[in-house]
Amino acid sequence: MNPGTEMDNFAFVIHPLNPKRDVARKYPLLAKVLPTSLIHFFSRFWPPLYLSHITGVRSQATGKEIEGWLVACPFAARQMLQMPPQTAYKKIVKTGRLAQRLGARMLGLGAFTSVVGDGGVTVAQRLGIPVTTGHSLTVAVVIEALEEAARSRGIQPESSSVAVVGATGSIGSACAELLAPVVAGLVLVGQRESHLAKTAAQVRGAGARRVRVSTHIEDIREAHLVLSVTNAARPVIQPEHLRRGAVVCDVAIPPDVSPRVTRERGDVLVIDGGMLDVPGEVDFGFDFGLPPGKAYACMVEPMVLALEGRYESYSLGKQIRVDQVRDIAQLARKHGFRLSASG
Ligand SMILES: NC(=O)c1ccc[n+]([C@@H]2O[C@H](COP(=O)([O-])OP(=O)(O)OC[C@H]3O[C@@H](n4cnc5c(N)ncnc54)[C@H](OP(=O)(O)O)[C@@H]3O)[C@@H](O)[C@H]2O)c1
Repeated sequence: MNPGTEMDNFAFVIHPLNPKRDVARKYPLLAKVLPTSLIHFFSRFWPPLYLSHITGVRSQATGKEIEGWLVACPFAARQMLQMPPQTAYKKIVKTGRLAQRLGARMLGLGAFTSVVGDGGVTVAQRLGIPVTTGHSLTVAVVIEALEEAARSRGIQPESSSVAVVGATGSIGSACAELLAPVVAGLVLVGQRESHLAKTAAQVRGAGARRVRVSTHIEDIREAHLVLSVTNAARPVIQPEHLRRGAVVCDVAIPPDVSPRVTRERGDVLVIDGGMLDVPGEVDFGFDFGLPPGKAYACMVEPMVLALEGRYESYSLGKQIRVDQVRDIAQLARKHGFRLSASG
């Protein structure tokens, strides 16, 4: 804790995905004695938590080092989906104020804190520091990861059918738009026909050759490549939904792909989308579930902005701009953030 720090910096909000497992990372005894239902109940009253001080992020281009803080909003993913957005905003803003007291000059929103409601707009209005969802960099990294995984399996995207699950969402529709001109066909899967029609028009405008829309997950069986990015709180992709030899990039947090897929489908490659190696000798000071030295793209976006000294609400709201996706990807590469091998 170091208010008034001279270094450029950022803070990042995370929250429990699996309440029992994640509460145990901070309070092992409490997680042991409390059942999940009680953890959910008490989390309404728990204040935001300071988790750790992040050190050692260093640009390969400029040698500049930044620092950061991990702070936690105590709601789980499913809770945030079910509660009125205003209740979630209140707790996220409180978490942001904790970050401000630590000296943070920018706040990154992790997982469902960036998905709930208007995607950070209200939170940014209520805080005195810029806020970013990190979604622009997430989109860039996810597409790069999918293309690289496809090539590793000898699949050429330009002659492949690609399914986007959650295609009507913020990240899903931007990914579909960027994939449109470079793949043979798109299968857009969502929950509502009217939203799917809008995304289909958007991807046709972006140059898609063949577009099919569906509200049935079974229809991803025709796809060689699958990008999954729903806000469902439970897995939506099961082993029987996938084509032989398919490559699946699971961007969703919590994951969309059932653990059964890796157990039962040795022919299918599942990768975590959106993971990067951080330049320097980063110490997050807290185990948030990734191997050392790696971070989600949404965490990296505020790091890149801090390395640039650009304190602005870069990705905010549900609409992602393709030019911003390209710009932030270029800056991340410049500072030495690299796509992380996964799967
Ligand atoms: N890996 C990373 O670095 C990273 C970074 C940021 C976010 N994320 C994750 O990305 C995911 C999406 O974020 P977002 O902001 O794009 O969310 P979003 O805008 O709320 O979009 C999610 C979409 O998923 C659709 N959906 C929900 N359940 C579905 C189902 N069973 N089948 C098909 N579609 C379904 C929703 O449709 P309806 O609206 O019709 O319900 C919605 O259009 C979240 O899991 C988030 O945690 C990952």
